[in-house]
Amino acid sequence: MEVTAIKDFEARLARFPRLGLARLPTPLEPLERLTQALGGPRLWVKREDMTGNGFGGNKLRKLDVLLQEALRQGADTLVSGGVVQSNSQRQVAAAAAKLGLDCHLAVYHGRLSPPTPEYERSGNALLNRLFGATLHDVPWTGDRNAAIEALCAELQAQGRRPYLVPYGASNALGAVAYAATALEIAVQAGELGFHPAAIVHCSGSAATQAGLVVGARACLPQTRIVGIDIDAEPERVRADVLRYAEGAAELLQTPFSEADVEVVAGHAGPAYGVPHEATIEAIKLAGRLEALVLDPVYSGKGLAGLIALVRAGRWRRDDDVVFLHTGGSPALFAYQSALDI
Ligand SMILES: Cc1ncc(COP(=O)(O)O)c(C=O)c1O
Repeated sequence: MEVTAIKDFEARLARFPRLGLARLPTPLEPLERLTQALGGPRLWVKREDMTGNGFGGNKLRKLDVLLQEALRQGADTLVSGGVVQSNSQRQVAAAAAKLGLDCHLAVYHGRLSPPTPEYERSGNALLNRLFGATLHDVPWTGDRNAAIEALCAELQAQGRRPYLVPYGASNALGAVAYAATALEIAVQAGELGFHPAAIVHCSGSAATQAGLVVGARACLPQTRIVGIDIDAEPERVRADVLRYAEGAAELLQTPFSEADVEVVAGHAGPAYGVPHEATIEAIKLAGRLEALVLDPVYSGKGLAGLIALVRAGRWRRDDDVVFLHTGGSPALFAYQSALDI
């Protein structure tokens, strides 16, 4: 059943061409020392931090499909946005540099107070400038896309041909792009001789989880997708996962069930972008035991959630669980003084 299901899903995904900016498939590797330290289950990591261009990350996989559409439409400018240390907008800036497009970013201030002195200039903020993006400082109002849309309209009025990449590169098409990750894991895990009980990852603007849920239903029906809320808004994250998953399932013409959506609350720390003790512990463990570079906003909180679930006995020792490393490593440098190392 699996080979036929995989071939069928592959054919559905092929209807949504990729640009080829992302280096795929990303590796799936064992985490032997972390597994040993936690006492099981057997942990693996899917290296979505290694998608390539401009330090990579999970958004590049979505952009690979979205930007194919942008070029088809004849866009000359990419427009997006995010908070100062957004990995999403940094990946948009990197893609624009590679494609020779202009890039304008709405940089939101005020969603969180700068947690370190280096927050405003280092990490992703530095890379946005390095990649040549034009940055527009705007206040955070709670509406993730309003300032991006306004910027897009402004550029259009100036005669540009802008393409809008939504906050977090999340929409139904982004979820379609991400569904390919589940297929990759199915193939790689099959070659490695295991079947994942779960794939655990951090969830924010939600298309990553939406894609995984739709892809797993097709290629890994026994695998639970577990999203760790890092926005401290689990109900909003869940609603967005549902919305994008429904949209992606419709585009791909595949089944999808609401029961497949699990968003775990309680690991976001005090607020979005503010690391807590469990995040710092997870970042240090991953670095010391596996040379994995996690960040304090996303992947560090994702691993903190996974560790808490392991300690609570969610899986058996002989289960296999995949941690999806969604990237974000550059943000670590913007939080250097919060790490106390
Ligand atoms: C490093 C990293 N991991 C995870 C996520 C969450 O992915 P999504 O927004 O698709 O839920 C993001 C999104 O901003 C991110 O930058």
